[in-house]
Amino acid sequence: MTADRDPSATSVDAAWLERATALSVNGPAYGPNPRVGCVLVGADGTMLGEGWHRGAGTPHAEPAAIADAAARGHEVAGATAYVTLEPCSHTGRTGPCTDALTRAGVAAVRYAVADPNPEAQGGGAVLLARGIDARHVPYGPAAQVNRRWLGAVEHGRPWVIAKWAQTLDGRTAAADGTSFWITGEEARAHAHGVRAQVDAILVGTGTVRVDDPELSARPPGDAAAHQPLRAVMGLGATPGAKVWRDSHAVQLATHDPHAALTELASREVRTVVVEGGATVTTAFLRAGLVDELHVYVAPALLGAGTAAVGDLGIGTMAGALRAQDVTATALGVDTLVTAFFQRGQI
Ligand SMILES: NC(=O)c1ccc[n+]([C@@H]2O[C@H](COP(=O)([O-])OP(=O)(O)OC[C@H]3O[C@@H](n4cnc5c(N)ncnc54)[C@H](OP(=O)(O)O)[C@@H]3O)[C@@H](O)[C@H]2O)c1
Repeated sequence: MTADRDPSATSVDAAWLERATALSVNGPAYGPNPRVGCVLVGADGTMLGEGWHRGAGTPHAEPAAIADAAARGHEVAGATAYVTLEPCSHTGRTGPCTDALTRAGVAAVRYAVADPNPEAQGGGAVLLARGIDARHVPYGPAAQVNRRWLGAVEHGRPWVIAKWAQTLDGRTAAADGTSFWITGEEARAHAHGVRAQVDAILVGTGTVRVDDPELSARPPGDAAAHQPLRAVMGLGATPGAKVWRDSHAVQLATHDPHAALTELASREVRTVVVEGGATVTTAFLRAGLVDELHVYVAPALLGAGTAAVGDLGIGTMAGALRAQDVTATALGVDTLVTAFFQRGQI
């Protein structure tokens, strides 16, 4: 028995899944788990309880919603659970959500995204086998919230964001190696916000030697921002560099981007932002391992210096790597261009 995709999603389903999706974004974007929201709705259409997953080791959205209903004094037997992701059927740091929903006596489950995680998927079928009317009701915005997490699970490796700051003529450093600062404060603040949403920041040993970056997340007004793992890729030692100030840092002693990602995955990294330099960024692009681009473009020219990206082995215009879902955002005098590559495209 499988919980088939239900083409007969109603506007009521969409409305509650919209609410569940809004709840899901309260959870952290970083960490090994997806962001999930859940709303429990009674037969008369009353909201009985709602919850979201607050990160690894804390209750999943479904038990959180069940606990919320209990706290409100509501009985959830016979209710419908609207969840942004297929309820899990496995025991990880917490127990299976399929069991929590079954124990609570819910009559129906509508989930927006089928779980691609081989360890946790199949919860819909488990619920159906127990007589619970579980259906997959595809709802795009719920998938969008977990775009990076879903990509990481489907690719079987961390989701890679390649980020750099460049001049209008595509330089990421001047002829003398300096790159502080190409862009202005607003662009740099934005980049710190992105760092606070990922599990790891990766740079090459060359960048550590030349720039000695802290690689910390310092979004304005958030002194307690989540700090990603600092990863330095390359064989050379960089003793005394700021990245080694505490143990939340790792050297990836390889030139192979696949091996680097395998090592990061073993540390529960789902999203990594590759921040250069050009040698390392080019290696990831050549290996077809970039999912998302963040390019901050400053209205400046250098004429000489380091090119943002090195040789990709492309000899003709028809071979150009073209990204999709492009957005351009003004950040002060600078512009952030974000875009995506599809799996297998590069
Ligand atoms: N504008 C920006 O956004 C931005 C960002 C970062 C850096 N930068 C600038 O970029 C410059 C540094 O760039 P970079 O390209 O020299 O340094 P890099 O990419 O940070 O590091 C290059 C080094 O990493 C190691 N490495 C790791 N993977 C490799 C691979 N697949 N192939 C070859 N080597 C690999 C090698 O050192 P080992 O011998 O140790 O293995 C190599 O020399 C600096 O001037 C910095 O200011 C600019």
